Amino acid sequence: MCGIVGYVGNEQAGPILLDGLSRLEYRGYDSAGVAVYSQRDQRLSVHKAKGRLQVLSDMLQGGAAVDGTIGVGHTRWATHGAPSDINSHPQVSRSGRIAVVHNGIIENYAELKAFLQDQGVPFTSETDTEVVAQLIEYFCETDKVGILEAVGRSLRRIQGAYALGIICADEPDQIIAVRKDSPLILGYGNGCNFLASDVTAIIRHTREVGYMDDGEVAVLTKDGIQCYNHLMQPVEKEISHVDWEVDAAEKGGYEHFMFKEIMEQPEAMRRAIFPRIRDGEVFLEDFALTEDYLRSVHKLYIVACGSSYHVGMIGKYNLERILRIPVEVSLASEFRYMDPIVDDKTLVIVISQSGETLDTMAALREAKRLGATILSIVNVVGSSIARESDQVLYTWAGPEIAVATTKAYSTQLAVLNLLGLYLARLLGTMPEEEYHSVLEEMLLLPAKMEEILSDKDDIQYYASQYFNHNSVFFIGRNVDYALGLEGSLKLKEISYIHSEAYASGELKHGTISLIEEGTLVVALGTYAKLFEKAMSNIVEVKARGGDVLALTTRTHGEEMRKTANGVITIPETHPLLLPSLGVVPLQLFAYYVALMRGCDIDKPRNLAKSVTVE
Ligand code: G6P
Repeated sequence: MCGIVGYVGNEQAGPILLDGLSRLEYRGYDSAGVAVYSQRDQRLSVHKAKGRLQVLSDMLQGGAAVDGTIGVGHTRWATHGAPSDINSHPQVSRSGRIAVVHNGIIENYAELKAFLQDQGVPFTSETDTEVVAQLIEYFCETDKVGILEAVGRSLRRIQGAYALGIICADEPDQIIAVRKDSPLILGYGNGCNFLASDVTAIIRHTREVGYMDDGEVAVLTKDGIQCYNHLMQPVEKEISHVDWEVDAAEKGGYEHFMFKEIMEQPEAMRRAIFPRIRDGEVFLEDFALTEDYLRSVHKLYIVACGSSYHVGMIGKYNLERILRIPVEVSLASEFRYMDPIVDDKTLVIVISQSGETLDTMAALREAKRLGATILSIVNVVGSSIARESDQVLYTWAGPEIAVATTKAYSTQLAVLNLLGLYLARLLGTMPEEEYHSVLEEMLLLPAKMEEILSDKDDIQYYASQYFNHNSVFFIGRNVDYALGLEGSLKLKEISYIHSEAYASGELKHGTISLIEEGTLVVALGTYAKLFEKAMSNIVEVKARGGDVLALTTRTHGEEMRKTANGVITIPETHPLLLPSLGVVPLQLFAYYVALMRGCDIDKPRNLAKSVTVE
């Protein structure tokens, strides 16, 4: 999705803005642009180009071709108007004196555009963003007010979700930042200040950041940042220190972020799990939900999107099993429109890597409105979902850059399992011995992941056998079905192979008609209790000519080899934890297949890391 970066200071802004944008590339975009004010020429210069950031960077000689020490930059992911030079941001007002970068959507842009056109304002782009630039200028001119006041008046007219970065040639020492439902971060430097939609864009320059709240407006000059609330009353911002290292968001010798992040999983799991198991018990940091409240909960409702939803699917199987209370799982985009049965006895668990997914955020707010308590499992510290939840459990996976999530998925799953175990202990729904044995096994997960990662030749070999297939099915039962959903998504999102996951029992109700000579079926059979059933489904597929690549535990590897064409094994663990190990070979399989197909692994077409539009 779109990215914003802004800089005001004493250095040339061009190279800083382009560098910041390059760190936002991973989020997905289709065009890029910058607006810089030159004191020398006393004007704003705006440069934008469709396509990769490199096109813009070449055009501007890495930024050296633009003069000025204040500017804003943007990577666009088209919503209103196709990707094009004209529709790229910054969008400027008719005089060219106001430039705006925008993430999100202005919902009433058509109405505002018609109003401005009636006043004789000409438009050049198809974007909703241009309306903002033109409206601000309209208020400056007709109401004879300064830029800040004109922004305030414009905000009272616009509806929707937005993060805005605004510069104006008439007041050229400041950037105005506005946030509503789309993240925006202020970076505090020395003699310079920054604006960004994502901390990765500015971490090389400063680690002191402030998270803007909804409705806030900030004025950045090189000497300081002043924030205002929605009533334009000054507010003090709390400054947070970002403690991860700059190289955590760099490739560090790996060809792709995705591979680096797959390899980082054992370490990420250690960070997510180890501090949360103390003296053989689950320990949840700063846990504010009271035992009385938790005992009163009669339903868990998990809401999330994409891979985070797949974590929720595993959660349903695991948590119902150990808690014996109903666990519903819903796609956040459905939850908000389904009139969900949620009340003050429902604990809603929101799962999100970015903490900014718009559908998930909307579901959270809907659940809150219905009286539920919100517990979120989030990776990005200080993100909107984290801040609006009653309780947050961070996954501590570190920055995840590749669009296809890996280490965030694994740590979300670990944290959800820990939460389940914590509740099971509290509610007394799990035999003590089993509780302790799961915790012991959880501590072994990172090392077992390392075993899988150090023995990836088999997976690479199978990828080489199957990378040119056009269609793949993943099948499994119970947690293996939920795991298949993630394996299938990983494969399709980065390799562009058509891939679907089915509950094995559903095969005979339709999908089996698609199995023909050579169709690849990835059969997941890690769950020992249902191993025989998994074997029967494999036989069914093979009888129709399908090619079966199976995933099972080492214990069952030999048995599986008698039937499947290829077998990948994982170490044994407690059944609740099997997907935590099973996902690793599936990630690697998707990665190697995409590599062999020559795909853009870290930035797959049409996808974004964080989806901040509906
Ligand atoms: C996008 C990403 C997925 C992610 C989903 C939900 O589609 O490409 O990897 O699972 O959003 O994102 P979240 O940040 O809420 O987990």
